[in-house]
Amino acid sequence: MRTQVVIVGAGPAGLLLGRLLEQRGIETLILERRSAEYVLGRIRAGVLEHGTRGLLNAAGVGARMEQEGLPHDGVALCFDGEQHRFDFHDLVGREVMVYGQTEVTRDLMDARAASGAATVYEAEDVAPRDFDGDRPRVSYRKDGVTHEVACDFIAGCDGFHGVCRQSPPASAVSSFERVYPFGWLGVLVDQPPVSPELIYANHARGFALCSMRSPTRSRYYLQCDAGTNVNTWSDERFWDELRRRLPSAAADALRTGPSLEKSIAPLRSFVAEPLRFGRLFLAGDAAHIVPPTGAKGLNLAVSDVAYLAEAFGEYYAERSEAGIDAYSARALRRVWKAERFSWWMTTMLHRFPEASAFDRRMQRAEFDYLSGSRAASQAMAENYTGLPM
Ligand code: FAD
Ligand code: PHB
Repeated sequence: MRTQVVIVGAGPAGLLLGRLLEQRGIETLILERRSAEYVLGRIRAGVLEHGTRGLLNAAGVGARMEQEGLPHDGVALCFDGEQHRFDFHDLVGREVMVYGQTEVTRDLMDARAASGAATVYEAEDVAPRDFDGDRPRVSYRKDGVTHEVACDFIAGCDGFHGVCRQSPPASAVSSFERVYPFGWLGVLVDQPPVSPELIYANHARGFALCSMRSPTRSRYYLQCDAGTNVNTWSDERFWDELRRRLPSAAADALRTGPSLEKSIAPLRSFVAEPLRFGRLFLAGDAAHIVPPTGAKGLNLAVSDVAYLAEAFGEYYAERSEAGIDAYSARALRRVWKAERFSWWMTTMLHRFPEASAFDRRMQRAEFDYLSGSRAASQAMAENYTGLPM
C-alpha cells in the first residue's frame, strides 16, 4: 500500500492535519490506536483561540461550532475571594470560543468520513520506519494481520504517550520539562454554569476553575495533590470543596448534580526539540505539553498542523523543501511563547506545597499588578485569546 502522508493519531492534531491536506489535494492515511468512540469519550479542552476558530472555519468544519459554540469576550480571575474581570473586547478587540474538544473531534471525524479519506482505528503496534531516508514506511497490525504502508512523509500526531517521539534515537531528541506537584480533578455535570464566563480562582485551599460546555452543561476543576486517587473524591466531597474555593456569589449560585465524568489530569510543561527527524514530523501533544491553566494545548496542536500543512502543500505544489525545512523552528517559536504563558498562569494561580510566605506575597503582587494595569491586562488578553499563527 502507498499514500502521500501517513498520520499517526486521530486526535485533533491528526484529524485537522488530514483535513488541511485533503483541501490541498494531498492523500493521507490516519492510523489510530483506539476506537473512534474511545477518542470521543475523552473529556479535554474547552476553549478555542480566535485563530483556531478562524482556521476551523477555513477548513470547512466550523458550521456547528458557529451555531452551538459560546463566544466569550472575557474571563474572571480571583484571588482569595477578590474577583477581577478581563474584558477581551475592550483590551484587545477579540474573543475566544467555548466549544469542547469532543465536538471539534466529532466535526472533523464526520468531515473525514464524508470525504472517504482512509482512517484505521484500533491499529496496533504502529511503527514509523526508515524516515531518515526518502522512502519512509509505517507498519501496523489490524485484526491480527500486519500491514505496511509506503509514504513520502510521516506526521506524528500521536499525543504525549505516542510512538513517534520515541522513534528517533534518544540522542537526537532534547527534552525540556517541568512537572508540577499537583493535578486537576475535573467533573462534568448537566447543570447550567455558575457564571456566564469562566472563573479561575487562587484560594488558600488550592486552585479552582469554573468552565462550561453549553448553557446546560458545566465543567469544573479543583487542584489536587499529585498522585491523588480519583475514587477518594465522591461527588459530594467535590462540590463541598469547590464551594469553599469560590468567591461567595459563585458558591451560592453553584448548581450541583451527579457527575457525568470525573478524572484527574497531571500538570506538566514539556517540549521536545526538534520537531523534525528526516521525513518524520511531530505535532501537538506528541511534541509538547502545557499545563491546562492557559487553555493552550489544543490551540497549539492546531497551529502546529496549520504550519505543517502549509509546508507539505508547498512541497507538493512547488517541489520546494523550504517549508518543511523551516517547520520545526517556526512551530517551536510559537510553542515556547505558549509554554511561557501557561507556566505563568499556573504559577500565579496554584498553591505550591513548597511556597514560602515570600512566594505567596509575590503571587498576590502579580495578581494586583495584573488587575490594576491596563498594559499587563492587555498582555494577558493577547495571550489568552491567542498570539498570531
Ligand atoms: P491527543 O488528543 O492526545 O491525540 C493523540 C491521538 O494519538 C490519540 O487519539 C491517541 O489514542 C493516539 N495514539 C497514541 N499513541 C498511538 C500509537 N502508538 N499509534 C496510533 N495512535 C496513537 N487545550 C486547550 O487548547 N484548551 C483547553 O481548554 C484545554 N483544556 C484541557 C483540559 C484537560 C483536563 C486536559 C487533559 C487537556 C486540556 N487541553 C486543553 C489540552 C488538549 O486536550 C491537548 O493539547 C490536545 O488533545 C492535543 O491534541 P493532539 O491531537 O496533539 O493529541
Ligand atoms: C475546560 O473547559 O475544560 C477548560 C477551560 C479552560 C482551561 C482549561 C480547561 O484553562
